[in-house]
Order: sequence, then structure tokens, then C-alpha cells
Amino acid sequence: MRGGRRSLRVRLLAGLLALLLVIFAGVGLAVTTALRGFLLARLDQQLSDTGGRYAASLEHGNASDTRAQAPGTFGARLLGGTVTDAGVVDGDADDAAVAAGTAPADTSDQVTLTAADQHRLAELPVGGAAGTVHVGGLGEYRVRAVAGRDGDVLVTGVPLRAVEDTLHQVELLELVVFGVAVAVAGVVGGLWLRLALRPLDRIAATATRVSALPLARGEVVIGERVPAPAADPGTETGRVGLALNRMLGHVEDALAQRHAVEDRLRSFAADAGHELRTPVATVRGHAELALRHPEPVPQPVRHSLERIAAESRRMGALVDDLLLLARLDAGRPLAAAEVDLTRLALDCVADARAAAPEHHWRLELPAEPVLVTGDEDRLRQVVANLLSNAHRHTPSGSTVTLSLTDRHLAVADDGPGIAPELREQLFERFVRGDQARSRATGGTGLGLAIARAVATAHGGTLTLEPGPGARFVLRLP
Ligand SMILES: Nc1ncnc2c1ncn2[C@@H]1O[C@H](COP(=O)(O)OP(=O)(O)OP(=O)(O)O)[C@@H](O)[C@H]1O
Ligand SMILES: [Mg+2]
Repeated sequence: MRGGRRSLRVRLLAGLLALLLVIFAGVGLAVTTALRGFLLARLDQQLSDTGGRYAASLEHGNASDTRAQAPGTFGARLLGGTVTDAGVVDGDADDAAVAAGTAPADTSDQVTLTAADQHRLAELPVGGAAGTVHVGGLGEYRVRAVAGRDGDVLVTGVPLRAVEDTLHQVELLELVVFGVAVAVAGVVGGLWLRLALRPLDRIAATATRVSALPLARGEVVIGERVPAPAADPGTETGRVGLALNRMLGHVEDALAQRHAVEDRLRSFAADAGHELRTPVATVRGHAELALRHPEPVPQPVRHSLERIAAESRRMGALVDDLLLLARLDAGRPLAAAEVDLTRLALDCVADARAAAPEHHWRLELPAEPVLVTGDEDRLRQVVANLLSNAHRHTPSGSTVTLSLTDRHLAVADDGPGIAPELREQLFERFVRGDQARSRATGGTGLGLAIARAVATAHGGTLTLEPGPGARFVLRLP
């Protein structure tokens, strides 16, 4: 709508007004032309009815005949192409120039004609149709020439001023009326268009509200619909609204299906995890039991048993992780007890130090103990995970710092950091760096996914922040 492109409403209104202007201009032109023709015809009629007599009276020197003439009527006698006599009937042409030295008649004035005037009068076709001539000092005249007696030519003219005045008035009236009509059309048309396009506004508003809804995950209900008046199948805009409503219905169905599938997958993962736990534990138990057998066991068999025990231990941990994720996904409530984060940080760093003595472990604690409400085991798992990452994904000798304040818990290391292409999806499931993948003992890529899920379940956040190496920050409410 913005930026050079006018809104539909403005464009329609502009088109309507332009059309009106064209129509009015045409009507005005037609009316003026017709009126001018009509008035001229009437003037010509008047000219031929009465006009001739004035010129004749000039010829006879009988000025009393002028009384019968309309005021301003002009008469002239031409002899051999030269004006010998000219005059106007008193009235409009009162101020007409009077021929110097000529005795004025009682009701008519003598007129001085310039050479150009005389020339124009002499050129008139004798006995022909009336023509329009500008007589100097008197203005526009409708004139006609007739043959007089003695071979002279008598010219009579009636002033055009009345006709011009009428035409001007009509033009002025047209201008005012059309102007008012265009203004009214602009206002009423604008309101009407606003009314007519209101359904489109409603549809746009609905679409905007829907686009603001979080549809990416979870159970989604799109309560928004285009209101009934804007979804009337009888109108074009209504059909758009109706189509949008139908589409929203389909989208809602599809999202509900997605949610159902997600639900099923989650419960499948939870069930599978649950079912796998016992056999995995049993395999591990038996392998460990066999390894503890007092009889000497052949070396290859022992090796196999050790592998079975190690892998089933790994598998057990994986199953536990999956089960935990499925539980967090299902939104199962976590324990909500008071947790002393200071104590927890101390414990976790002590464990990490024991597990990886070749790393430097630093701990920054605030003077006051930091207490939060949450699930201690899960929070411990998060911190242990971050510390184990800092240990496993950095070269030995690296320094790992756990700093705790009353606002956050941060685990930072001075290792290689996170590759840029990994940063985006670091917290997704089974996402691991290349090095972590190539290592035989590498993890599964669930650690950070679980950590973030736990943080979210606590109403907090776990983010990767810039640092010399990797720096993970856990914030809890
Ligand atoms: N401190 C770190 N320094 C460098 N890379 C890291 C660090 N922490 C995590 N990563 C990278 O992020 C990836 C994902 O970590 P995550 O904890 O989710 O999985 P993992 O440690 O590979 O396996 P798991 O934790 O499930 O045993 C790791 O594979 C590693 O590439
Ligand atoms: Mg990890």
C-alpha cells in the first residue's frame, strides 16, 4: 500500500473522480455549444427581422426609425466599398466613439469606423448569411449586408455581448455545479468505498492475527476466523474471506494431526524406552556377573563380555536419556523443591575434577548461597552435562570455569569453541560436532537437548554465548 503504490481505495476513488470530470467536461462542452448555436440562431432571426430597417433609415436620414431597433444595433451604409454613414442605436453602445464633426441624431450616435473596420464590412457577402465581425470600440457584432437602393450596401449588426454574457453565466454555473458534484462524489464515494472494502480489511486483519500465532509446535488451536459478514459467499470479497476461513480450518486440522502424530511418537519413545530398560539392564547384569566368574575365562571371551558390559551400559544411559526427553516433551511436571545451586556447583566441579584431573577447573561462587526452586537431580544433570562437554570437547590442559551469580550459572572453557555451522542446531537431538562423532567413545548428541529441555521445563533458558571458547549460560527464574 505504501511506497509509491496507492491503496486500492485511493485508486478506485481517483478513477471515479477522473471519470466524473471527463463526463462533466463533455456535458459542459455540449451544453455550451448547443446553447451558443441556439442563441446565435435567435440573434440572426432578430437581425433579419428588424435589423435591416435601421440601415435603411440611415440611408433615408430618418432617425426616428431607430426607435424600433434594439439598443446597440449597428448600421452602416457603404457606397462603392467605402462607408459613407454609420451609427448605433442609443443604449449599450452609449460610450461608442462618436464620429467627430458629425451631427448626432437624437437617438442614434454616429460611429467612427477605423480603416480595418471598414475593410471588414466591405468584405461581407451582400445578401449572404450573417457573420461575426469585431467593430472597433463597439465589440463583437453579428452583421449582415444587404443591397440598398442606388447600388449602395446596407450593413446591420446586433451586439453579441448579451449572448456572450449568457454563455459566460451558464459556464460559470456549470463550473460551480460540476465542482460541487465532484466534491460530493469524492466524499460520498470515499465513504462508500470504505464501506465496500471493509470486508477486505477484516480479512487482512484476521490473516495478520493468524500469522502472529505460534504454530510451529505443540497443540495449536487457530481460534481466528474471518467474521461472518466478511465471509458472505454472495460477494467477491466474501468469497475471499470464506476461502481464508476454509484454509484456516484445513491448517488447523493438519496441525492437529501433526500434534497427534507427535504425541504418538512421544508415547512410543517413552514406551520403547521403558520396555528397553529392563532387558538392557539384564544384559548388562549378566555380562558383569559372567566377568566376575571365579573360573578362568579365555581372553577373547572376557574381551567380548567386557564389550557387552560397556555397550549395554552406554545403551542404558541412552535409554534413560530418551525416556527423560519423552517425559519432558510430554510436559510431565518436575519436582519443585528448594535447590541450593552453590552446593550443586561445588559437587559437580568436584566430580569433574576427579574425572578429568588433567583439565583446570575453576569455580566462581557468590558470597551468598544461590537458591532456586526446581528438580535437583535434573539440574545436577544439566550442570554435569555442561561440565562433561567442556571436558570431552576440549583438549586436555584447558581451563573450565563455572561461575555462579544470583542471575545465572555459566560454564565457559578456553577450548576450540563451537563451529559456526553447528551453533544453530546445537541444542537439537542427536546433533554432534564432527570430532565428537568420529571419536569412538563420543556421546550421542542428546546432552544439550536434554539440558535445554530441563531448563525450559523450569521456565528458564540455556543459551550459547560468545566467549573465548564455548560458554553456556543457564538462567532460571
Ligand atoms: N564445551 C564445548 N566445546 C566444544 N564443543 C562443544 C562443547 N560442548 C558441546 N560441544 C559440541 O556440541 C555437540 C553437542 O553436544 P551434546 O552435549 O548435545 O552431545 P555430546 O556431548 O556429543 O553427546 P552426549 O552429551 O549426548 O553424550 C558436541 O558433539 C560438540 O561437538
Ligand atoms: Mg554432552
